[in-house]
Amino acid sequence: MTTRERLAAVQEWVEVRVGISQLIEMGREKKVPLHRHSFWYYMGGMTLFLFGIQVGTGILLLLYYRPSSGEAFESVQFLMTRVPFGWLIRSIHSWSANLLVFVLFLHMFSAFFLKAFRKPRELTWLTGAVLLALMMGFGFSGYLLPWNTLAFFATQVGTEVAGRVPVVGEFALRLLRGGDQVTGATLTRFYGIHVAILPALTTVILGAHLLFVQKHGMSVPPQVEADAERAGKPLGSYPFLPNFLLRDAIGWCAALGVLAGLAALFPWELGEKADPFASAPAGIRPEWYFGWMFQTLKMLPPHILGFEGEVLGILAITLGFIIWFAVPFLDRTPRPGNRVTRAFAVGGWLALLYMAVATAMVYWPQ
Ligand code: HEM
Repeated sequence: MTTRERLAAVQEWVEVRVGISQLIEMGREKKVPLHRHSFWYYMGGMTLFLFGIQVGTGILLLLYYRPSSGEAFESVQFLMTRVPFGWLIRSIHSWSANLLVFVLFLHMFSAFFLKAFRKPRELTWLTGAVLLALMMGFGFSGYLLPWNTLAFFATQVGTEVAGRVPVVGEFALRLLRGGDQVTGATLTRFYGIHVAILPALTTVILGAHLLFVQKHGMSVPPQVEADAERAGKPLGSYPFLPNFLLRDAIGWCAALGVLAGLAALFPWELGEKADPFASAPAGIRPEWYFGWMFQTLKMLPPHILGFEGEVLGILAITLGFIIWFAVPFLDRTPRPGNRVTRAFAVGGWLALLYMAVATAMVYWPQ
């Protein structure tokens, strides 16, 4: 038997059991609409790629990490100084987490402005919105794990805010902290949330999100549809396999290059070990994607119309998230020129502008 015949036999064996040619055929039949906004279709795949990087590097970090207040900092220090390329893996995990959230925001806002949430894609939007909450949960829980000063006090502030939520706040605070204070019990909980609960939930919700994308195909923005109709020209498209996937792959290679550059040139710092008895250092700030919420609460006066300013702020932010989740059900027939559609588009730009300015205020060098 020649090598070629052997390879063909292996291919045949796999084909009978897996049916790869059917999958390839499906990918060839799947078409991606081609128009002036097609670029934004790559953002979901880029988010997926970065999530894959998180899973891979996270598993490697788990080989050395120890989730207790007595050992967490030391285990990360060991990883960074003694384990070959340990510093690089940790650096990539941290940079990629930030890049993931950034690309996720691009993906989400492009889906919003291009009205990709229209019928029948309401559940694609809803599962996406849950993924946003899950990714923010990953960021918040992961931040504490190295058990350094900055993470310790930022978690204290973050969980305090959760504790201010009317009715459920106190319960949420104790549930997150595993007691009244941030202690080793909090670290153990955050570890469980970060490596077990959130990955399990993400697997299910991400599976559903991708299933809906597969079922409905990529949407065409209403404005593009209207323009094509006016011009009397059918809209172009190109095959998912190989054209779209190959372009996706070019983006992923570029992302790898950016990640490698950032991780090697700006290695993620570890700082000092947390001392729960020390007073909080000046300038405690959350991760940038929580910055606008942090700044909103900071700017509010202590009392507004007899109510606590911070509580009103938390309620307003919660309402903002509820409206964001419900977008497909509020802007139900998005057409160019429709008043609700126009109001949502203006609201979206204003929200984006506000978030950018508030975040800049947190991180602007003082
Ligand atoms: C871990 C997070 C996420 C991953 C990995 C992910 C992945 C993807 C992928 C691969 C696609 C198909 C390609 C594309 O249209 O870009 C997609 C489509 C979509 N996603 Fe996400 N997504 C995530 C989060 C979100 C969020 C936060 C939202 C909005 C709240 C969202 C809403 C949508 C919508 C509406 C579509 C359909 C786009 C269309 O048909 O044109 N996704 N997502």
